Amino acid sequence: MENFVFHNPTKLIFGKGTIPRIGEEIRNFGIKKVLFLYGGGSIKRNGVYDQVVKSLKRYGVDWVEVSGVKPNPVLSKVHEAIEIARKEKVEAVLGVGGGSVVDSAKTVAAGVVYEGDIWDAFIGKYVIKEALPIFDVLTISATGTEMNGNAVITNEETNEKYGVSSKALYPKVSIVDPSVQSTLSREQTVYGAVDAIAHILEYYFDGSSPEISNEIAESTIRTIMKMTEKLLEKPDDYEARANFAWCATIALNGIMAVGRKGGEWSCHRIEHSLSALYDIAHGAGLAIVFPAWMRYVYRENIHQFERFAKRIFNLEGEGEDLILRGIDSFKNWLKKVGAPVTLRDAGIPEEDIEKIVDNVMLLVEKNLKPKGATLGKVKVLDREDVREILKIAAK
Ligand code: NZQ
Ligand code: ZN
Repeated sequence: MENFVFHNPTKLIFGKGTIPRIGEEIRNFGIKKVLFLYGGGSIKRNGVYDQVVKSLKRYGVDWVEVSGVKPNPVLSKVHEAIEIARKEKVEAVLGVGGGSVVDSAKTVAAGVVYEGDIWDAFIGKYVIKEALPIFDVLTISATGTEMNGNAVITNEETNEKYGVSSKALYPKVSIVDPSVQSTLSREQTVYGAVDAIAHILEYYFDGSSPEISNEIAESTIRTIMKMTEKLLEKPDDYEARANFAWCATIALNGIMAVGRKGGEWSCHRIEHSLSALYDIAHGAGLAIVFPAWMRYVYRENIHQFERFAKRIFNLEGEGEDLILRGIDSFKNWLKKVGAPVTLRDAGIPEEDIEKIVDNVMLLVEKNLKPKGATLGKVKVLDREDVREILKIAAK
């Protein structure tokens, strides 16, 4: 087990009927005016917007709205919101929506207090050390952004989708009411499940194998799979939504990182190129990349891949045969719940592979290199490796 520091400063308020507490939580910080950021309008259709507005009014918190944050959120919207936040002299940022909205809220909060272009933080030219206080009401469980210090933004002019991490980006307070997620489409629910499972697997396969973290990871993955199947049958099953939501939070709030080596993250980085270039959902991209990556690298981590097959899919046997059946079972499960598992499924032609490889390598140069990071850990990937993984993912 590796040494670790566990410090998660976010206060998470979880459960049915908790959204009306947002106003009081913000006011407790002495904040009188916030930038209220949201997406394409789902919060107006499912009543979340009304609940938030009522609570802000009740606790005397003034707000200015910016809407229209799109999935795979873009830098231009962040710039627009930073300008409004400065002009209106808001004291905090409140994101109400999914990962796209909350990540945008975090980036705006950091951008308001930085004199340069906040994109600098995504290409290693600026280290985020401060930000306005961040609050959120989460409406889709997937990314774990409600309880971590990460944000992922796309520069739509250059098709670069990069992430940042900073202690300053942890939300002060996040509210998760799983009952409002019953309005999610089947696809969004499935993509959320894939994303949460992928976060756990990025840690699980990073070359470490602490028993307690393995056990937590495996039970969380099995729970997500079980809850996803229940939700596809009955989208308003509250117990399933609530269990799913908490699994997605702990998938990327630091718990899965305990005693490990910092996570693998190559599948995420390759996926970010897919969603940057083709605007597909992050979870859809992960379902395409993950099984292909597993097939390409399993020899570097035989024991853990055997364990995965046994613990997640109850398979018996050993060695390569067991591992390959484990990877196939994972791919089949993804297919069964309706996720795309090949580039072709997502309408991405095999001829585009070189373009995708270029985009991934740009990420290595611009997002990873300045921080000294590599693409991958158990196997550090170069251009040739990425190309081979994408070829496996093609069909
Ligand atoms: O825009 P609206 O109208 O709100 O609709 C959204 C959007 O179309 C809809 N939605 C959200 N809650 C809903 C709802 N529809 C009905 N009922 C509800 N209750 O769902 C769609 C997807 O929303 P989005 O925020 O894009 O989803 P998600 O939470 O999966 O976020 C994905 C983004 O987060 C990044 C991804 O790359 C992607 O850009 N990630 C962020 C991470 C982080 N901050 O830690 C880590 C992840 O690995 C990931 O990279
Ligand atoms: Zn993810």
